[in-house]
Amino acid sequence: MTAPVVSIEALSAVSTRDGGAPILRDVSLNLKRGEVHGLVGESGAGKSTIAKALLGILPATVKVTGGRIRFDGRDLLTMASRELRDIMGTEIALIPQDPQTALNPGRRIEAQLTDGLRLKQGLSKQMAHERALALLAEVQIRDPERVLACYPHQLSGGMRQRILIAAAFALGPKLVVADEPTTALDVTVQKEILRLIRRMQDAHGTAVIFVTHDLGVVAQICDSVTLLYAGKVIEAGPTSDVLLRPQHAYTKALIAAGPRYDRPGAGLEPVPDAVFAALRREGGIDSQGAPHDV
Ligand SMILES: Nc1ncnc2c1ncn2[C@@H]1O[C@H](COP(=O)(O)OP(=O)(O)OP(=O)(O)O)[C@@H](O)[C@H]1O
Ligand SMILES: [Mg+2]
Repeated sequence: MTAPVVSIEALSAVSTRDGGAPILRDVSLNLKRGEVHGLVGESGAGKSTIAKALLGILPATVKVTGGRIRFDGRDLLTMASRELRDIMGTEIALIPQDPQTALNPGRRIEAQLTDGLRLKQGLSKQMAHERALALLAEVQIRDPERVLACYPHQLSGGMRQRILIAAAFALGPKLVVADEPTTALDVTVQKEILRLIRRMQDAHGTAVIFVTHDLGVVAQICDSVTLLYAGKVIEAGPTSDVLLRPQHAYTKALIAAGPRYDRPGAGLEPVPDAVFAALRREGGIDSQGAPHDV
């Protein structure tokens, strides 16, 4: 067995903003090389908090109260900030949610794509240019020379997200964190971007944490999945097991509430209140701890 790329062990966190309200409760998960792992749950479940913890950008008002995040044998939570800075962008990279705001509007794509290559890999201007062209070709941008000379506002949202995907994979990271990377895009573009992320991670053998609230997206690109509710892991496992043979009432209700993967066109059912009530009871999640009224 090869060691996992990332291992989150019993991670707990509270908000110092809301009188110590719990955000994560004993969250554990392992991620192997080349695996795409979905983090699923409704708004406030703690998905982005996990993503931020992996990226070393937890807000000051979120306090980790227990657990570890082992990355490549090191604990991200106790690492010196200098070492953390070295890892971020190189060994761990982000595909952001909103390609409109993630690029600097005042700089050409070439400058933004080659900064890391020059700084972290020491490439010359010419070599970084060649590498940027190759990266854009890899994310299927047809006229990379023209695109490198563009400012972000001259490009569509889908094009910008392709560029950000190229940037995320540019330095050969071991882990890519994608936090809802398609929700800001047109529906028609979303599928292409999902396929692109899958193809890139497959070609590079990269592990991906994929944050989404959409089980359809999980079905499409995730090998495995963790379902969160109010900061707690409700169910986890290989995608096919969780989606086709869900064990937990909440998972079953979420699957019933969404489009059917096995029966397209079947009716939608809301998640029944009784399921939420049962969740709170068995998970020890009281109404104060729930992220919002359900
Ligand atoms: N900066 C912060 N300081 C303190 N608490 C925060 C902060 N940001 C978020 N939280 C709390 O952490 C909890 C989890 O939020 P998080 O953003 O991780 O949820 P999420 O699952 O990503 O939701 P969404 O689907 O809306 O993006 C929420 O209860 C939220 O109030
Ligand atoms: Mg979020």
